[in-house]
Amino acid sequence: MNSIVSLKNPTHHYTLDEIFTQVLPSHSEIPLLNQNLSTYQLDAIARLPVYFDIKDFDILEIGADEGNCLNELVKSGTNRMLGINNWCAEEEDKLSNARFELVQSEQLITRLSKQIVLSYGDIRQLAIADNSFDLIFSIATFEHIQALDEALIEMHRLLKPKGFIYANFGPVWSGAIGHHLWCEIEGRILQFSEEEQYADILQRHEHLLYSAAELKQKLSANYSDSFINELLYRIYEHPHINRYSYADYRKIVMNSPFKVLAFKKLWQIPTEETMLNKLQQKYGYTIDFNCSSLEIVLQKQ
Ligand SMILES: C[S@@+](CC[C@H](N)C(=O)[O-])C[C@H]1O[C@@H](n2cnc3c(N)ncnc32)[C@H](O)[C@@H]1O
Repeated sequence: MNSIVSLKNPTHHYTLDEIFTQVLPSHSEIPLLNQNLSTYQLDAIARLPVYFDIKDFDILEIGADEGNCLNELVKSGTNRMLGINNWCAEEEDKLSNARFELVQSEQLITRLSKQIVLSYGDIRQLAIADNSFDLIFSIATFEHIQALDEALIEMHRLLKPKGFIYANFGPVWSGAIGHHLWCEIEGRILQFSEEEQYADILQRHEHLLYSAAELKQKLSANYSDSFINELLYRIYEHPHINRYSYADYRKIVMNSPFKVLAFKKLWQIPTEETMLNKLQQKYGYTIDFNCSSLEIVLQKQ
C-alpha cells in the first residue's frame, strides 16, 4: 500500500511527477487489469482520433474502474495516466470485485503499470496540481457525476491550456431508459439495457411520466411494499445517477468556461407519439426525450 500519496483527503495538490515517483509498483494480488473491454468502451476509444491525437498526452480518466481503458490507450503512445473512481459498485456490479476490494482494503492509490496509476478521487475536488493533463477522458460516467457544473470548473483547472475533455455517456435521465436501473431487488436483476427484464414494471419513459407516488400506486396491486420502495429509491433517489435531462447537460456545457467542440447525440430511442404529447405537457418543449446518449468534447481556451 502506498500511503505517501492520498487523493482522498486533499491537503496538497500533487503534480504528476510527484505521483509517479512516489507511488511505486504495487505488490497487490488484486488482478485489476483483466484486459476485457466492452464494445461501448472500444467504440468510445475509437472516436478519440476524430478530435485529437493522444500521442504523448498526460491523461486523467474519470470513472476508470479497474483501469482497462487506460491500458488500451497506452497503445496509442500516451504518456502518464491517472484513473479515478469515487465509488465502487458493490453489489450492483459483481464483476467489479477487484475495485471493491481496492477501496475496502483502503488501498486508495495503486500503480498498475509504468504509465498508469489508479486512485480514489472525486472530480469535484481533486488533489492534483493545476494544468496537469492534456486530456480528461470519461466513458459511461457523466450521467453519474453530481454537480457537473462544479466538476467542469475543476476539470478546467486540471487541464493544460488547450487541453481537452472527451465524455461519452448515457443513458441520460430524459431518455427512454434514463432511469438507469442497475440492481438486484429481492432476487430480481434489473438492468436498464435489458428492457425485457423489467417490462412488467416500467415501460419506456414512464420514469419521467410518473412521480414516485404515482408509480407506487400503479405497482401496488402486483408487488410487495418492500420491492416497490427499493425500486422507487433506485429510480428517483439513489445518488449514483444525477438525473440531468438533455436540456440540463446543454445548459451546463454552454455555461462552462470551455469551447464546445462537440455536443452530439450518439444513440436515440424515438419517443412514441402519445407519450411525447404527455411528456411535453408535463415538461414543456425544451427537452429532447429521444436522446439516450451523448458525446461531449470540450477544449480549455
Ligand atoms: C458506471 S461506472 C463506469 C464507468 C466505466 N468507465 C465504464 O466504462 O463502464 C461510473 C463511474 O463513475 C465514477 N464517478 C461518479 N461520480 C464521480 C466523481 N464525482 N468523481 C470521480 N468518479 C466518479 C464512479 O466511481 C464509477 O466508477
